[in-house]
Amino acid sequence: MNTLPATMYSVVLNHGGYSGTALEPTIKDASDWLSEAELPVPSPGPGQVLIRLRAASVNPSDIHFIKGEYGQPRVKGAPAGFEGCGDVVATGAGAETLQDQRVAFVAAGSGAWAEYVVTQGQMCIPLRPDISDEDGASQIVNPLTAMAMVDLARNDGDAFVISAANSQLGKLMCSLGRDLGLSPIALVRRPETVQPLKELGAVEVLVTSDPKIKDHFVSISTNMKPRVFLDAVADQLSEQLFCAMPNGARWVIYGKLSSEMPQLTQSGQMIFMSKRIEGFWLTRWMMSTPPAEQMRVVAEVQARFADGRWKTDVSERLRLSEVVPNLASALKKSDGKVIITP
Ligand SMILES: NC(=O)c1ccc[n+]([C@@H]2O[C@H](COP(=O)([O-])OP(=O)(O)OC[C@H]3O[C@@H](n4cnc5c(N)ncnc54)[C@H](OP(=O)(O)O)[C@@H]3O)[C@@H](O)[C@H]2O)c1
Repeated sequence: MNTLPATMYSVVLNHGGYSGTALEPTIKDASDWLSEAELPVPSPGPGQVLIRLRAASVNPSDIHFIKGEYGQPRVKGAPAGFEGCGDVVATGAGAETLQDQRVAFVAAGSGAWAEYVVTQGQMCIPLRPDISDEDGASQIVNPLTAMAMVDLARNDGDAFVISAANSQLGKLMCSLGRDLGLSPIALVRRPETVQPLKELGAVEVLVTSDPKIKDHFVSISTNMKPRVFLDAVADQLSEQLFCAMPNGARWVIYGKLSSEMPQLTQSGQMIFMSKRIEGFWLTRWMMSTPPAEQMRVVAEVQARFADGRWKTDVSERLRLSEVVPNLASALKKSDGKVIITP
C-alpha cells in the first residue's frame, strides 16, 4: 500500500449550519462561501473507506449546500462537495472488499472537494473500467434520480412534463423516457435548446419565455394528458401549468432553480380534481428502496453510460486550487457540469 500524506489540499466551507434563505443555486463569488485549507488526511472508521479523488462534479445541490440552503446543516471548516469518483486507498473494518477499487461515491463523512475523502462503503459504487472518470464523477446523484423519477412518472401514464429540461438531469430523463416508449414534454428557457432536446427524445418542447406558452401547454395537455410534472424550477409559471394539467395530476417538486416562490391560485384543483403537490429527494429514495432494486438501477445506469446512451456534458474543468477563484464564473456557462480534479 502507498504511504499516505499527512495532510491534503481541501476546499472548505466558510460557514456552519443553515442560512435560512431559499434562493437559486448561483453565487457571485465563491470566496463568500469557500476557502482553501490544508487539512489532516482523514482516517476511515468502521464501514468507511478513504478515497483518493480522481474527479468531483458540481451539482446545484452543492451550491445550495455551501449557501446553507440544503436539507442538511453545514460544518464550518469541513470540505465541501457531495459527489465524485476516485480510488479506495484505505478501508475501515467491514469495508475491505472495496480496497483498491475505483468507485463512484457520495461523500458522507467529509466533502468531495479535497484530495482525499472519507465516506461510508455503502455510499460507493465500484465502477466498470469502460466508464470514464468524468462520467464516474456524475454517476450517482442525477442518474439515480432520473431512473427513480421516470419510474414514478410511468406509473401514471405515458406522457409526463419535465421543467429545466436542458439541465443534465432533464436530458437524462428525456432520453430515458424515449427509450422506454414514453412521451416527455419538455420546458426550457432557451429557444436554441428546443431542437437538441427533440433529438434526445422530448416529444414536445416549450420555451418558458414564449408569451403564448400557457395556450400551447393547454392544448398539449388536453391531447396528451400528462399526469406527472417533474419540476426543478417551481415558480409561478409551474403553478399555472400544473393547474392546466388533467384530473389527478401530481406536481413533483425536486429542485429550486428559480428563487420565485409560487402562490397557489386554485385550491379547487386539490379538492375537486384530486391533484397533489409533493417532493422528491434522492436521499429518501435511497433510504426507502430495497438494496436489490437499487443494485438493479445502478447496473442499468452504468450500462447506459458505458454504451453511450447517457453521457456527462462537461462545461468547464477546474483544479481544486482553481475552485475558490474561478467557480463562480465557471458556473455561468450553460449546458454541462463543472468537473473538479485534484
Ligand atoms: N431532489 C433530488 O434528489 C435531486 C437530485 C438531483 C438533482 N436535483 C435537482 O435537479 C435540478 C437539475 O440538476 P442538474 O445537476 O441537472 O443541473 P445542471 O445541469 O448542473 O444545471 C441546471 C441547468 O438548468 C437550467 N436552468 C437553470 N435555471 C433554470 C430556470 N430558472 N429555468 C429553466 N432552466 C433553468 C440551466 O440550463 P440552461 O442554461 O441550458 O437553461 C442550468 O444549466 C437541480 O435543481 C438539482 O438541485 C434534485
